[in-house]
Amino acid sequence: MSDARSVPDHLAALAESLRSASLRELFASDPQRAEWLSRKVQLGDSELLVDFSKQTLNRDVVDALVAEAETRGVRRLLADMIAGRAINSTENRAVTHMAMRASSEATAPIELQTTAADMIRHLDAVVAAVSKSITHVVNIGIGGSDLGPALLCDALGAMRPAAREVRFVSNIDPVDLDRALVGLTARHTIFIVCSKSFGTSETLANARRARAWLVAGGVTAVADHVIAVTAQPERIAATGLEVGHVLSMPDSVGGRYSVSSAVSVSVALAFGSGALREIRDGMRMMDEHFVTAPMHDNAPMLLGLIWWWNATVLGHPSVAVVPYSRVLGLLPGYLQQLIMESNGKSVDRSGSPVSTTSPVVWGSIGTNAQHAFFQLLHQGTHVVPVDFVSHSASLGSAEHDHDALVANMFAQAEALAFGVAQGEVGGEPSLRAHRATPGNRPSTTMLFSRLTPGAIGALVALYEHATFVQGAMWNVNSFDQWGVELGKSLAVQVLADMNGTPSASHDASTKRLLEQHRSWRNER
Ligand code: F6P
Repeated sequence: MSDARSVPDHLAALAESLRSASLRELFASDPQRAEWLSRKVQLGDSELLVDFSKQTLNRDVVDALVAEAETRGVRRLLADMIAGRAINSTENRAVTHMAMRASSEATAPIELQTTAADMIRHLDAVVAAVSKSITHVVNIGIGGSDLGPALLCDALGAMRPAAREVRFVSNIDPVDLDRALVGLTARHTIFIVCSKSFGTSETLANARRARAWLVAGGVTAVADHVIAVTAQPERIAATGLEVGHVLSMPDSVGGRYSVSSAVSVSVALAFGSGALREIRDGMRMMDEHFVTAPMHDNAPMLLGLIWWWNATVLGHPSVAVVPYSRVLGLLPGYLQQLIMESNGKSVDRSGSPVSTTSPVVWGSIGTNAQHAFFQLLHQGTHVVPVDFVSHSASLGSAEHDHDALVANMFAQAEALAFGVAQGEVGGEPSLRAHRATPGNRPSTTMLFSRLTPGAIGALVALYEHATFVQGAMWNVNSFDQWGVELGKSLAVQVLADMNGTPSASHDASTKRLLEQHRSWRNER
């Protein structure tokens, strides 16, 4: 490790001492382990149990991680965020996603609470003003203007009837909008053009095509069919789009942290303003827990510290998130942006190199994932920590099959942790090496009593805060995303060249690809 904030010797020594200890031994030597390494969070109509006991750690590690968080100023940074100070230092902005749903001074100053309340009042008024004849909502947006509301709408669809169907369009690939419009009629459709910057090329291109579709479909009052959500309302006019309602969000709410803001207006249009309120209530409960619970009892704090421990100290470069819940199928994709766009950085706040930052986040739903990549998790040469998520109450019609779903999750976590040694494998001796599984593969299990809108909100907030904790530990700015800018601006130049107006000199590989594409395209 080359950076000044690399792994301190005492943490490296703790990791070393655990290398020879298996999870089997850790459980055998400490009968209370499952108890003291679990945390419960009350969430109104639901409850969350987070079981960290299958992680590679012991009491000394937890104490050392909490002490390290104090040393690295995690709570100081949190206090700065709550106070509205400009902790997004490279953009000189405050970070106010928690304030967007706050109703107490523990999580936001009163003036930020007022801004949030105004935002929601305006959202409710816009939702109420949308004609009952609108049966379909198409959300056009990408990244944080897509992934959060898509996750929420997909999940809520299993919990309550939708007054309107919502579809999501994000990709510049024309097939995306084409498909979303299949079976829709312009008169009954409203578009949400969701873009914090109102400058994202994919979103604006799709919004222009949507406008043309409305006109072609006989709509004369186009503005009645378009809601914009943005932090830059003054940019709308230059796009040529006609917009009936503008919902604003503060610049200080990052796209990937914007799910509790007006960005989720699609949720209210489909499931009612009350549903969005329940989601925000659940987020608020997790916020209060994060801000007030002592470090040792604090679920997001421990989740973030354990992710940091696994990546930085134990050297596990990726994490799989596997929800055992069909309705949380979009969670891994949502978390990829939240976590990797936040902490996929190589320099700290002062611009000095950092040797380890965000793990690669990936995953998919259980049980499907068991029949796809779990082989590698059990027997592969990589150790991949897993976050399992599920809920005890079924959302479907067959309680028994839901039990089977949850049983599979518990079984996978158990198999990963404890494995089966060659000596314990029966049958043909020559196959024992193949059939044995090493175990000692860490995981965290999160089990909700019921998956409610509030529980989903709390889950999202839990990961927002765990992401914050990791960023603070690495001392990176978790709230900018300069890395995506170069590719965006190059795409503009490449497209210009593709259309015959060379504006940049490209490398030989890109030139060759451009030539080939032009020639194949022109054959059509
Ligand atoms: O991918 C970069 C990014 O800027 C994300 O941070 C953001 O969520 C997404 O693009 C969409 O941005 P906007 O909401 O401004 O259209």
